[in-house]
Amino acid sequence: MNINGIPTRTLRAHPEQRVIDIIDQTRLPHALHWVRLTTLAEAAHAIRAMQVRGAPLIGATAAYGLAIALGTTADDTHLASAAAVLRSTRPTAVNLHWALARMEKVLRTVPPELRCAAAWAEAEAIAEEDVAQNAAIGQHGLKLWNDLIVADGQTLNIMTHCNAGWLATVDWGTALSPVYAAHDAGVPVHVWVSETRPRNQGLLTAWELEQHGVPHTLIADNAAGLLMRSGKVDAVIVGADRIAANGDVANKVGTYLKALACADNGIPFYVAAPRSTLDFACADGADIPIEERDGDEFRLVHGLDQHGQPAALRQLPAGEDVANPAFDVTPNWLVKAIITERGVCPASQAGLLALYPEEAGV
Ligand code: MRU
Repeated sequence: MNINGIPTRTLRAHPEQRVIDIIDQTRLPHALHWVRLTTLAEAAHAIRAMQVRGAPLIGATAAYGLAIALGTTADDTHLASAAAVLRSTRPTAVNLHWALARMEKVLRTVPPELRCAAAWAEAEAIAEEDVAQNAAIGQHGLKLWNDLIVADGQTLNIMTHCNAGWLATVDWGTALSPVYAAHDAGVPVHVWVSETRPRNQGLLTAWELEQHGVPHTLIADNAAGLLMRSGKVDAVIVGADRIAANGDVANKVGTYLKALACADNGIPFYVAAPRSTLDFACADGADIPIEERDGDEFRLVHGLDQHGQPAALRQLPAGEDVANPAFDVTPNWLVKAIITERGVCPASQAGLLALYPEEAGV
């Protein structure tokens, strides 16, 4: 997608130097700052501290993090311990675990002295697949919008939550890919962007929509119901961190409330995600681990001070008891359809298996 009109991906790999460059998303939307990751510890920190975030992007970063960790030769013990460090960074987004499992499986078939080169190649394959799959999601989603357009030139009002755009992936995004596809195809589209407390990933969504020239309006999370009830929302689309075998969806906390409000207002609620987000080994949403993050994400508010410098303001005393679950689970019956790179399906085991028949009985 574009930054200042220049096509850019969220991650740049330099295999010859065995490093990658990422955008430090903790600095957005105030500053665009690239960070070089040169060690396993730096890659793990970038994922845990959410310098990189969004399920597909942390999967790709973990894959490259493993490649960075391997050095010129890596035996099975080295491989397993590096993967374990990366796996421990964040629990909910299955893409992280999927990418590391794929890397380990491939690398175990390769002699230790060839593993480094193989790791860089496999990480690149994961990143390229992410780009292609998200682009395909955009085209499948674009067809769904056509059903919602009742008059020529009508502006489609789409609501989203969190950031499931370009910044959350290597390119295109998941939930925002059909939005970009519509905008690029000349369909008038406007996005209601939910702020997404406490980390305000909605600000990232607004920033990337602005970079691409897509009209949008930021709203406080609690304004979503009013807008839906007053007929200002044609559809809601979100990404996912893990989709269970029965179509239950884990996504950023607050997603479930939007799905409930959609149901009460007859608004379609779509989920867009690539194969790497599907967890066929997880029977239903109750089995999905929900990340509990540091309460200071809640107690402190981040922004710029009067000199334009990054600053934190304490809105709660240090000892104030807070709960900070980062995700929630939306049950499958609230999801109108799941959009993947293979097409659109009902949020059910039968629906997912119709798109991925090779997963039946695995
Ligand atoms: O905690 P985050 O910012 O990593 O959470 C991200 C989300 O919940 C996204 O909506 C999800 O990963 C989909 S990303 C394409």
